[in-house]
Amino acid sequence: MKDRPLRDREAIRSALLAWYDRQARDLAWRVGPADRRAGVRSDPYRVWLSEVMLQQTTVPHATPYFLSFTQRWPTVSDLAAVEDGALMAAWAGLGYYARARNLLACARAVAAQHGGVFPDTEAGLRALPGVGAYTAAAVAAIAFDRAANVVDGNVERVMARLFAVETPLPDAKPELKALAGELVTDARPGDWAQALMDLGATVCKPKAPLCDRCPISAWCAAYATGAPETYPRKTRKADRPRRHGVAYVLTRRDEVALVRRPPKGLLGGMLGLPTSDWRAAPFTDAEALAAAPVAAAWRELGAIEHVFTHFSLTLRVFTAEALDGEFVWTPREGLSALPSVFLKAARTADRLL
Ligand code: ADE
Repeated sequence: MKDRPLRDREAIRSALLAWYDRQARDLAWRVGPADRRAGVRSDPYRVWLSEVMLQQTTVPHATPYFLSFTQRWPTVSDLAAVEDGALMAAWAGLGYYARARNLLACARAVAAQHGGVFPDTEAGLRALPGVGAYTAAAVAAIAFDRAANVVDGNVERVMARLFAVETPLPDAKPELKALAGELVTDARPGDWAQALMDLGATVCKPKAPLCDRCPISAWCAAYATGAPETYPRKTRKADRPRRHGVAYVLTRRDEVALVRRPPKGLLGGMLGLPTSDWRAAPFTDAEALAAAPVAAAWRELGAIEHVFTHFSLTLRVFTAEALDGEFVWTPREGLSALPSVFLKAARTADRLL
């Protein structure tokens, strides 16, 4: 398997890049392949901003935020001058506030220490505050056409399928990264990174890959097995420890009570439904009521399952109406930005209320 990328590398690369030339997605931050060929370069600020937003959420959800940020703050130095509170307000709905704080720290470092100009190497970018390995690689490749190995969840999935990697995630990560790295060359690194992302998002989809539209299915080992959707392999759910908890859907007219989670730990700093602790033993009815955030006429709606990387969670879902309380009261339509575990729990309530 390890010899395949070298033998077929050029064939795979040209097939995928030709596909990208034909049907690259038109994205607000993207310099498309035709403009890139004509010598148009991406603005590193826009690439960096879009990548930070996209680590947080999907392209449709990130796009209006990207447009509004770049209109209000057209350069990294404009962003660096924003007050913390104004940035946090603009970020609301994008999730993790730690990322917004890092965003500002990075903008200020670029403005103060680099004269408002982003470093143009992966190592230089990685040294900026809050810039992790993925973002440094993505900006180096897309903005500066450096041969960086840009690996996100989409790219991991494409590699797991292309090479039918049997090691389950998350253990397979280093192997998938190495395989992706063997396909990177000095030719069109920015387009290559974005072509892989587009393939992962629009064709090599997690549940139902559209292999009949895939430009590289001829080389795809998972396609050859007849069951490409079974890759990447995952650690069996049964291998994960199970935890139990209770989530509380407290409603006030059309609003739902949310709480801000502590900054450290799982889903740190994000808004979520109030919950009990998550622990090994299931909750008895009395314990479930005792852990509720306020006394109310709680009734049980059911339970949801959610699989995190390191454990599976069963959450019993209770609901009640409230007159008031110290919560972040959020209209129902605002719930779509919640982490998916809470979205699942809130949907249980919506279905049954
Ligand atoms: N997902 C993350 N980064 C992306 C990008 N630059 N283009 C498309 N999808 C992405």
